[in-house]
Amino acid sequence: MRRKIAVIGTGYVGLVSGACFAYLGHKVIGLDIDEEKVERLKRGEVPIYEPGLDRILESALKSGNIEFTTDYAHAVKNSDFIFIAVGTPSREDGSADLSYVESAYRSIAEHIGDDDFKVIVNKSTVPVGTGRWAKKFIAELLRQKGVKEPEKRFEVVSNPEFLREGKAVEDFMKPDRVVVGADDREIAGLVASLYEKLQPAMLITDLPTAEMIKYASNAFLAAKISFINEVANICEELGADVTVVARGMGLDHRISPHFLRAGCGFGGSCFPKDVKALIHTAESVGKEPELLKAVIDVNERQKLRPVEKLLKHLPELKGKTVAVWGLAFKPDTDDMREAPSIPIIRELLKRGASVKAYDPVAVDNARRIFRKELEEFGDRLKFVPDKYSALEGADALILVTEWEEFREIDFDKLTGKVVVDGRNLWEPSVLRKFCTYESIGRP
Ligand SMILES: NC(=O)c1ccc[n+]([C@@H]2O[C@H](COP(=O)([O-])OP(=O)(O)OC[C@H]3O[C@@H](n4cnc5c(N)ncnc54)[C@H](O)[C@@H]3O)[C@@H](O)[C@H]2O)c1
Repeated sequence: MRRKIAVIGTGYVGLVSGACFAYLGHKVIGLDIDEEKVERLKRGEVPIYEPGLDRILESALKSGNIEFTTDYAHAVKNSDFIFIAVGTPSREDGSADLSYVESAYRSIAEHIGDDDFKVIVNKSTVPVGTGRWAKKFIAELLRQKGVKEPEKRFEVVSNPEFLREGKAVEDFMKPDRVVVGADDREIAGLVASLYEKLQPAMLITDLPTAEMIKYASNAFLAAKISFINEVANICEELGADVTVVARGMGLDHRISPHFLRAGCGFGGSCFPKDVKALIHTAESVGKEPELLKAVIDVNERQKLRPVEKLLKHLPELKGKTVAVWGLAFKPDTDDMREAPSIPIIRELLKRGASVKAYDPVAVDNARRIFRKELEEFGDRLKFVPDKYSALEGADALILVTEWEEFREIDFDKLTGKVVVDGRNLWEPSVLRKFCTYESIGRP
């Protein structure tokens, strides 16, 4: 059934969800406070790099099923379901910063009146307890402006998003499961019905359980990565090969082969912040989340493993040039949030090296992130337009992101260099014919 949906926030999650809901036939309004972004979206431009999103959006725009606005009055008035998909970044203390979510609730509440009933759906990842808190918060805002029976004017539902950047459209269209949490089961059912064309595995729960499913899932995946990285570091000392160890483990269906790739750590907008937020939540209720803390500590150390390996061969980096391949936190995205390339490049600069960095799509974001370093270190940090220019005059190469274009390369160009493969992309026996080769957890 065709429903009227507003999506608040048109970032990775909001834009993909909005475009996909429109593609499924719903009538969607995408709202953002970023006017420039909204102008670009109105012209059909996709402001992020996400494979397949341009086609879905183009078709949604053509069918007239999606429009973009900065106007909350218009979005709230013309929708029955209002999805919140704004950012929930980490605060200094690791807790989730809910200021964007709170601001969205305030803007929505301004436009809810006596005759309305709106379903407000949290798609943003919000700490356990946020949904129930939001119900009181929004009701109070409505009460203050004189709305009659404020609790009856809306319901809050949790519908956490599990999509992966780089595969976001595919993940939205073919989800492993859709989780809907609400105090009112009938309304949870209505939200679930928005996805009915996808025929997903559906789990309907209460509000806090749905919120916890999201955090527990991300924390578990992050733990798998830190686990295999720790095993990799032990393998190195014992002559075992972590890639084969992981294959052997993954054949056990209780373990599964996914998220068992050793490397230079996880980054991105979700795993680090969600694990830290869960740690914060646990501590706020008097629990000591030792395992979760170790997941973060292991990962922070792992991000600098490539530099440690480089130092084995080039103990003095002052005056040396290091090429860095890959800046995004993973392939097929331009997202650089918490990317291992950030501490790696900072460490190289601090040690006096010059850095020539290349990424197929993330350079614009990198220039913003390294603005201070570009000013401070001048010529010592350069972003170059292709992978081979990065190698010109370089003493070493660190591969940080396993973009497909790095798999098949002209290995002759690596001759005489120290190569640290932070993602175990290449075959050691092949690479050692050309260069001094290091990887993660392989003899
Ligand atoms: N990125 C992912 O892979 C992913 C996956 C699952 C869940 N999530 C969660 O989804 C949420 C959104 O993440 P994202 O990566 O899409 O964020 P993002 O930073 O890409 O996008 C957030 C958007 O919200 C807009 N915004 C901020 N405040 C607003 C307001 N008051 N009103 C309207 N728009 C506003 C911003 O301008 C921005 O365009 C987060 O809670 C994140 O943890 C993200």
